[in-house]
Amino acid sequence: MSGLKKSFHIKKKDFIRAGEAAIQTKVLLKSLNLDSALIRRVAICGYEGEMNVVMHGGDGLLSLRVDTDRLTLNISDNGPGIENIELAMQKGFSTALDEYREMGFGAGMGLPNMEKNADQIEVESERGKGTRVRMVFFINKEGDRH
Ligand SMILES: Nc1ncnc2c1ncn2[C@@H]1O[C@H](COP(=O)(O)OP(=O)(O)O)[C@@H](O)[C@H]1O
Ligand SMILES: [Mg+2]
Repeated sequence: MSGLKKSFHIKKKDFIRAGEAAIQTKVLLKSLNLDSALIRRVAICGYEGEMNVVMHGGDGLLSLRVDTDRLTLNISDNGPGIENIELAMQKGFSTALDEYREMGFGAGMGLPNMEKNADQIEVESERGKGTRVRMVFFINKEGDRH
């Protein structure tokens, strides 16, 4: 299969629908009969990325592209951007507001988990313009050996 594309909108601060794009991604990948460990890794990254857009970002888009040898997950938003990407990637770093911490978020493990679960990750951000996280997952024909 080559070049299958699907996108889902993400709305800033919409905690009612938060997580929906990641769920839909998982449903789509399951329908393609991909390896379950691979699907799990993509779903974790999708969920963390989506929650970051809802909590810290602006309105955004989660898009998925499936090619024969890889899956590409792009999560972008038009929010305030990340001031210091290197710092944001560190375990435990979080600028989450108290109201989000009370909801159980803000452990500062989202980006580190995305880095751990994706085969490749690229974070780009511009102050006041937004953030884009691009992740690649390689599809191993003999099964997922990540
Ligand atoms: N899409 C985004 N827009 C703006 N800032 C972000 C975005 N994603 C992550 N960040 C920043 O990076 C920090 C670390 O993110 P993460 O590791 O997911 O931890 P957490 O979401 O628990 O704070 C966030 O607290 C926030 O400051
Ligand atoms: Mg997070």
